[in-house]
Amino acid sequence: MKTKINRRFCVAPMMGYTTPYARSLYRILSKKAFLFSEMIASKTLIHSKNIQSIIANNKQNPIALQVGGSDYKDLAKCSKLAYELNYDEINLNVGCPSKAVQKGSFGACLMKNKILVKNCLEAMQISKNIEVSIKCRIGLGKEFNYDFFESFIDEIIKSGIEVIYVHARNAILTGISPKDNRNIPPLNYEFIKQIKLKYPDITFILNGGIDSIEKAINLSNIYDGVMLGRLIQNNPFCLKDVDFLFYNESNKYEISENTVTEYFNFIKPKVGTDSIYRLLSPLLNIFFGIPNGKKFKLDIHSKMKDSNFDVLEKIFLNFVREKKILIN
Ligand SMILES: Cc1cc2nc3c(=O)[nH]c(=O)nc-3n(C[C@H](O)[C@H](O)[C@H](O)COP(=O)(O)O)c2cc1C
Repeated sequence: MKTKINRRFCVAPMMGYTTPYARSLYRILSKKAFLFSEMIASKTLIHSKNIQSIIANNKQNPIALQVGGSDYKDLAKCSKLAYELNYDEINLNVGCPSKAVQKGSFGACLMKNKILVKNCLEAMQISKNIEVSIKCRIGLGKEFNYDFFESFIDEIIKSGIEVIYVHARNAILTGISPKDNRNIPPLNYEFIKQIKLKYPDITFILNGGIDSIEKAINLSNIYDGVMLGRLIQNNPFCLKDVDFLFYNESNKYEISENTVTEYFNFIKPKVGTDSIYRLLSPLLNIFFGIPNGKKFKLDIHSKMKDSNFDVLEKIFLNFVREKKILIN
């Protein structure tokens, strides 16, 4: 049976950011937030030799593996892999507007072909033990069109899926970059409110433009849950308050030397298997907005090339010791 999961606070999939290392930091800071992998193309997932290291789920549950693709057979294989690796959910990306992704016939351009999307989602349901979900936009192009959004949802839920993450803006498939596609098309949360009235039993998670924890709390009281991307990208340490604020846990997590030690214990065995920057970058955000933080950051950068993780760990430990009050 599927595990019953509360998706009140979700960390958005972000390529290059929600790496296995970042996710291990997120999980140290919050036991409850629902996590996502980066998007992985279905063919990469199936054929890559070192895929285990990219998608290994180091007991980071609750967590979804996000895939990009539109070949049913491949997607069914991906579901099987996700299930074997103990993911709670497999999510189909129907929101990415990049040219490369369009060339591979996946991402947001699939919103043009709702029957194909429905068939993909159907094929992905290989077991009752894994949730299948989708992350999509509210439409395509420059104009809002609620009827288009509604008929897309009408079709895809025929597949039987029950969880839908919506980045509440259109995707513009030509002329602007993926980055601009996260800012230029205006937000429209009303579409999600309206579709929820039609399908009260489906879980709709709101994504897009939620740039503070206060906003996230307010919106999570109105919608089934919220998904945050760039706020976590810039400051993952705000996850320390999530269990308390969103899941009624009685204690707030305090950042301490243990946070650093636990993180280093996770990455030290991975040294040599991935770049030092990917291993360390999630922790570098600890200096965000802290007086003199830059000094520590420069120190870390100057010592990174030696790859001496004990030295690097000591710098982080000193910083936390010195700034404990400010970072908590
Ligand atoms: C660096 C970066 C990488 C992203 N990669 C993905 C991805 O792999 N899959 C996906 O569905 N969305 C991806 N997104 C979009 C986010 O998941 C999210 O929908 C978007 O940033 C809007 O949420 P926000 O306003 O809270 O940032 C990415 C966003 C950023 C900033």
